Amino acid sequence: MNRTELIRKYIEFFKGKDHLEIPGASLIPENDPTVLFTTAGMHPLVPFLTGQKHPLGKRLVDVQRCIRTGDIEDVGDTTHHTFFEMLGNWSLGDYFKEEAIEYSFEFLTKILKIPKERLAVSVFAGDNDAPRDELSAKEWERLGIPKKRIAYLPKKNNWWGPAGETGPCGPDTEMFYWKINSKKAPERFNPEDENWVEIWNDVLMQYHKDKNGRYNEAEQKNIDTGMGVERTVAVLSGLEDNYLADMWKPIIERIEKLSGKEYVENEKTMRIIADHIKAAVFMISDGVSPSNTERGYVLRRIIRRAIRYGKKLELKEFTSKIAEPVFRIYSDYKIAEKRVLEELEEEEKKFNETLENGINIFNKLTKDKKELSGKDGFLLYQSYGFPLEMIVEEAKDKKIRFDPKDFEAEYEKHQELSRSLSAGKFKSGLIDNSAETTRLHTATHLLNEALRQVLGDKTIAQRGSNITPERLRFDFNFGRRLTDEEIKKIEDWVNDKIKKDLSVRREEMGLEEAMKSEAQHEFGAKYPKKVSVYTVYDEKDPEHFVSREICTGPHVKKTSEIGRFRITKEESSSAGIRRIKAVVE
Ligand code: ALA
Repeated sequence: MNRTELIRKYIEFFKGKDHLEIPGASLIPENDPTVLFTTAGMHPLVPFLTGQKHPLGKRLVDVQRCIRTGDIEDVGDTTHHTFFEMLGNWSLGDYFKEEAIEYSFEFLTKILKIPKERLAVSVFAGDNDAPRDELSAKEWERLGIPKKRIAYLPKKNNWWGPAGETGPCGPDTEMFYWKINSKKAPERFNPEDENWVEIWNDVLMQYHKDKNGRYNEAEQKNIDTGMGVERTVAVLSGLEDNYLADMWKPIIERIEKLSGKEYVENEKTMRIIADHIKAAVFMISDGVSPSNTERGYVLRRIIRRAIRYGKKLELKEFTSKIAEPVFRIYSDYKIAEKRVLEELEEEEKKFNETLENGINIFNKLTKDKKELSGKDGFLLYQSYGFPLEMIVEEAKDKKIRFDPKDFEAEYEKHQELSRSLSAGKFKSGLIDNSAETTRLHTATHLLNEALRQVLGDKTIAQRGSNITPERLRFDFNFGRRLTDEEIKKIEDWVNDKIKKDLSVRREEMGLEEAMKSEAQHEFGAKYPKKVSVYTVYDEKDPEHFVSREICTGPHVKKTSEIGRFRITKEESSSAGIRRIKAVVE
């Protein structure tokens, strides 16, 4: 059994049961701001699980790429992966428990030809939120799974979702495969016995968790299932180690070749490198760039962790070389290969510089000492970009005492200081109201919007702004240099809005309301409870806006007052942050 075969069989089987195949979605969730990455096949389907009609109907099947970072510390064993593929079939308010279980059983026993004797299942034991799931148990029995092979387990085990903080969820029933060929499966199913491997999960989605943590009965009852491709292929091939299956092996072999070392004895290190680079390939391909915030930070962390493990094998400038077998294994996906290679190489270069510098400073700070204080640790992190986890590991390696709690205390102190500084600035009243700065203020708002529009990246936000009567300076998150063409397009976009002589209005509102009205705001800035929101709009179409931002002003009344907008400089401000300087003439 290999990856392609399992995927093909699964999709074909469910197509035969009137399911339509949908393409897998991006790793970057479109509909859920509460999580950074797509974590399950159901994730992109949340709107359809909560009532919206899916254009392809009520029965769907697909294979979805997923990222889970919660268990990143466990990566390195035989089964945990940051990136994995999940097969799933869905009923959107169509069939429910009995049919879902029947399909699962048929696929496992008839298509994958797993003997019944090697299967066990678990069902939900019931609690205050939902009753015991006798119906599922009965269905399994009817199909031939003996009572002793059915375990009733609590929410901790047999409940799934929501994928983010709120949304559809429910009890589930899980299927386990006895993985030992040479030993018959015990009559009674013991979920604690690791030889029983969970391969599939049917979620019986009949609840909706709200913001207050309450489970409400859902109007539409759905089925959401998930089968992990890596794990299933491995156990069905009789492999004890997922990394020996076909979606991993070529990557491990490449690491062996590059390092001249063998997998045996270096398993953990090679697995981490393979796992992290594979995940990085897909994140970059879906548009993430290494940076110091959110997704970019996760990406940066895993690339850098892979590099650190690479050093254990004496690998140098290697990340992009390990991406190549990933392209080959997943040739059925359109991977942005060039971008992936460039981003990996650039990040590896940057990290090597940071590392060298950081280790020097670390050594200086701990010279003739047995301890690194939280303050010095914070200095390494803040001023030299040395990651906290590296400080911890470096200290461990060199037997230097270091307590991350002291670091955190220092971090908190710093956060408070910068908060009160920016609040102070807010109140200081030292606002320059000259005509020049007023024009530049409004130009800054247009530039902010132009960046998102022209670069097509909704996540771009202000990371800093400074206006003098001569020029504006604007910092924003973006992973690379802008091209001349892009700069021109941004200028044109702004000048077009100026020419249209749009109006600017100011409204006072509560901070929450402002956020809801899609007003732009500086990432991480602290705002008062009541704020002013400036909206640039067309008098002929007052319902829509061109730009909307929380701001103290001052601003022009009509955009024609601004004059001609010109970008004078585009440069890097810090990692993942670009800086634009511009003038109005
Ligand atoms: N959404 C379910 C899971 O991830 C199927 O296990």
